[in-house]
Amino acid sequence: MLASDLSSLRRPIIGAPMAGGPSTPELVAAVTNAGGLGFLAGGYRSPDQISRQIRATRALTDGPVGVNLFVVSATDPDEEELEAYRQELQVEADRHGVELGRARWDDDAWEAKLDVVRAERPDMVSFTFGCPAATVLHELDELGILTAVTVTDAAEARTAAGQGARVLVVQGPGAGGHRATFDPAAEPGTHPLPALLATIRTMTDLPLVAGGGIGTRTLAGEILGAGAVAVHVGTALLLADEAGTSPAHRSALKDPRFTETSVTRAFTGRPARSLRNRFIDDHPITSHAYPHVHHLTAPLRAAAAARNDVQALHLWAGTGYRRAQQGSAADIVAALTP
Ligand SMILES: Cc1cc2nc3c(=O)[nH]c(=O)nc-3n(C[C@H](O)[C@H](O)[C@H](O)COP(=O)(O)O)c2cc1C
Repeated sequence: MLASDLSSLRRPIIGAPMAGGPSTPELVAAVTNAGGLGFLAGGYRSPDQISRQIRATRALTDGPVGVNLFVVSATDPDEEELEAYRQELQVEADRHGVELGRARWDDDAWEAKLDVVRAERPDMVSFTFGCPAATVLHELDELGILTAVTVTDAAEARTAAGQGARVLVVQGPGAGGHRATFDPAAEPGTHPLPALLATIRTMTDLPLVAGGGIGTRTLAGEILGAGAVAVHVGTALLLADEAGTSPAHRSALKDPRFTETSVTRAFTGRPARSLRNRFIDDHPITSHAYPHVHHLTAPLRAAAAARNDVQALHLWAGTGYRRAQQGSAADIVAALTP
């Protein structure tokens, strides 16, 4: 049984949800079996795939399983800006010989995915990109599912606590992948994680999970010392044997020619931290049309992945990426535990 303050975990390590492939049932179960808590990434998957992944994970562990869902807000994109970006990307599409995707909004099958978690009842559900209505959080409480909302600043923490989230996942600026910022148009916060955690600690008694850029046991210890009940690690698990990270992404993480990460909107319209590559440098866009830009670039990213073209691919990585180790998830979790 998962304690609501996460004190039942043998190791205070949460395997952060990583959409796009890395968070396989094998990885999630391995993190849980190592004494932490693994999360499946529900984003971009179909509701059926999520059901199957929850069942597959349950078959590999008797321990707790988490599921993450996207809370996609309604947006009214600047159509001219979006059209200009579409034209700018045509040269990329021609290079790969593919058609650009149709820039469109969707809610990532929100209601159908809620139905999946209602039916499958994972131990914990975390939300990113926004905060669900209080009624949804309350309903999951009643089903015995521990709820968490990812927050990137004090105002979001206040909202999530006010809506009834049971745990806050505090995401610092060094995090790999998308910033969880509620408003896609807002520039993501830059307060270092320890300072952000300290601020939010003074505002609420809720258990805080914190992550972003954590690649060492020392840093994990500092974050736990600053008041987090567990650390949230994504990038540190990208090279795990059990992770579904693509071969191109794996090789880029180990490639010394990548010397830094940067935050970009070029791939999806939402700010996300990636290894800095040619695509990011060529497309310094400001459009915050999410998920329109995600759909627009999807065929480009698929073609780049198929060709191992690491200069045209989103290579989500946090600032601690150089510390990511190859090996079993159990060894990685043990190495990160203070
Ligand atoms: C490849 C990748 C995919 C991610 N996908 C998701 C996701 O689907 N949902 C989510 O809440 N966060 C996602 N994140 C962010 C992580 O949950 C977490 O905040 C981040 O990995 C922590 O920082 P770190 O990567 O430096 O450890 C992703 C991160 C990475 C690296």
